[in-house]
Amino acid sequence: MKHFRYSGLIAWKGHAGTGAEMRKLVYYVGTTLDGYIAGPNGEYDFLPIEPDVTEALLPELPETIPTLAREHMGLTDTPNRRFDTVLMGSASYQPGLDAGTTSPYDHLDQYVFSKSRTGEYPGVTMVRDDAVDFVADLKRRDGADIWLCGGGKLAASLAGLIDELIIKRYPLVIGAGIPLFDGPFRVSRWTPFQVQEFASGALVTRYRTT
Ligand SMILES: NC(=O)c1ccc[n+]([C@@H]2O[C@H](COP(=O)([O-])OP(=O)(O)OC[C@H]3O[C@@H](n4cnc5c(N)ncnc54)[C@H](OP(=O)(O)O)[C@@H]3O)[C@@H](O)[C@H]2O)c1
Repeated sequence: MKHFRYSGLIAWKGHAGTGAEMRKLVYYVGTTLDGYIAGPNGEYDFLPIEPDVTEALLPELPETIPTLAREHMGLTDTPNRRFDTVLMGSASYQPGLDAGTTSPYDHLDQYVFSKSRTGEYPGVTMVRDDAVDFVADLKRRDGADIWLCGGGKLAASLAGLIDELIIKRYPLVIGAGIPLFDGPFRVSRWTPFQVQEFASGALVTRYRTT
């Protein structure tokens, strides 16, 4: 297993790929030490944006920055590196709407999963079909890897299709909130293949399915 300890800016070492294969579904997400991706009422502002983590991951995953923020960061013309598609649960999609955009990751193919939303959402495809069948089909199509953005409910329903986890764990405990996987009790085992430790206290661990 690769184990990197960083005190600042690093060079990206590459992710563990095994050559020509089906595109991967990757759950890339930030959590607290106690496994929450948001507070009980969807709060997420307390999750820090650590400069050392950003510097390390941005060259590999610039497409995970929302379009509006990319403009401020001078990333507007930066090509996508790993993902060409993002999947969002309806609740994870809501902050973008609150910020005034229906297309938070305009540089990606965007799929939002909701059985209750009606109306028009320019820039995204609203998926009302069975999520597992839909994503299994998406994985069989040609393309770059697929980013599962969250949240916990969508991740739980797609857990059996996830190929890789990239977990940014921040040294915070919040006691209650929305879990990384918010579904029924089910044990699955994952194999860690890379750990990145940061001076800020964040730990980025990558796992693949066993
Ligand atoms: N820390 C991070 O990196 C990170 C990343 C992403 C999100 N978040 C946070 O996570 C929170 C949201 O997570 P969450 O677990 O509450 O909600 P979520 O998974 O984002 O959305 C849940 C909703 O999505 C729809 N949905 C989920 N699975 C579905 C399926 N299999 N088929 C059809 N529709 C499905 C349902 O909407 P309908 O009820 O409309 O059917 C469901 O109520 C937000 O606070 C967000 O900010 C944090």
